[in-house]
Amino acid sequence: MQVKKLADLDVAGKRVFIRADLNVPQDDAGNIVEDTRIRASLPSIRYCLERGAAVMVTSHLGRPTEGEVRAEDTLAPIAVRLGDLLGKPVRLIRDWVDGGFEVKPGEVVLLENCRCNKGEKKDNEELAKKMAALCDIYVNDAFGTAHRAEATTHGIARFAPVACAGMLMGAEIDALTKATENPARPLVAIVGGAKVSTKLTILKTLADKVDQLIVGGGIANTFLLASGKDIGESLAEPELVKEARAIMDMMKARGAEVPLPVDVVVADEVSALARANRIAVEDVGPQDRILDVGPKSSAKLAEIITHAGTIVWNGPVGVFEHKQFAGGTKMMASAIAHSEAFCIAGGGDTLAAIAKFHIADDIGYISTGGGAFLEFLEGKKLPAIAALEARFVD
Ligand code: 3PG
Ligand code: MG
Repeated sequence: MQVKKLADLDVAGKRVFIRADLNVPQDDAGNIVEDTRIRASLPSIRYCLERGAAVMVTSHLGRPTEGEVRAEDTLAPIAVRLGDLLGKPVRLIRDWVDGGFEVKPGEVVLLENCRCNKGEKKDNEELAKKMAALCDIYVNDAFGTAHRAEATTHGIARFAPVACAGMLMGAEIDALTKATENPARPLVAIVGGAKVSTKLTILKTLADKVDQLIVGGGIANTFLLASGKDIGESLAEPELVKEARAIMDMMKARGAEVPLPVDVVVADEVSALARANRIAVEDVGPQDRILDVGPKSSAKLAEIITHAGTIVWNGPVGVFEHKQFAGGTKMMASAIAHSEAFCIAGGGDTLAAIAKFHIADDIGYISTGGGAFLEFLEGKKLPAIAALEARFVD
């Protein structure tokens, strides 16, 4: 995959437009809960500022209605955090598509939520051309949004004088390519989360490549159901049992495995106060909900992880937000932290688990992508990256 890289360009005195992914989780009052994506965007911004570029940064936040900026849509809290991290004020420009604002060399401004502009989601050409006219160099550093073909991630790359990948985009592409192209074996994938349906394609793709496919959460429940177990009131998708069965058969035919839990932690409700019981998977009763894997199963997962050459991690194995259901994910996190394997991890819940168990420094590469991370691993061509590739030669 060949794209121009920001680090190879002379940006001095140039107007640089950076599309970042600053779509961070916020609480109801708008406070930033977790700022990994903002921090990950700093190297490109600093690179441009240090070399005297006039820097414009934009991002989407949430999924707003185009044509209005509601209180919850504004990038104002992001501008404050970005300013704190850069150690200089960051002005927020509200209406920016038609220009009419000034940015000095060595200054950075934040352009209000790009998804509030009419035409952004549909990759409107007129909008893309207007935005391209604001800059000399377009930098796409929004790996987390690379699976979307929108005006700031795709269209603008066609019309800007120069279009390149930022530092984060470059690092993501390199790390994910390393883990997928020629991975050290055994290759172990961990796919957790609520639903098989949202991750069916990735499960199928991985089933064809990995040596062990560890499933967790609601996904594991559907697999348990597929292997003939009773799962009581557990979250699962009975309509996908056939698909789960097919994935297990596919793995078996290759001499690979989907290790399923032999013991589980159950409760009758998902809450901080729920009373948890550890039981054998055979003993799950009609009222039980499976909310974590039990100690025997965690030990088995830890052993698999210890012997892995490469680990791809997306999603927790239990409801780790509550202490009584956190054991499996905690054990897994600790095994990953101690493993010699190259581990790439991605997705919002996974990032939260990494932060909770303080293992960020022990992960080979933490991707800022959720959907983009999965689609890259599926081997799909991400439209934002394709748009940069198309501009490689000129
Ligand atoms: C994400 O949070 O995964 C990215 O920022 C993309 O957001 P989207 O799913 O709203 O396009
Ligand atoms: Mg929001």
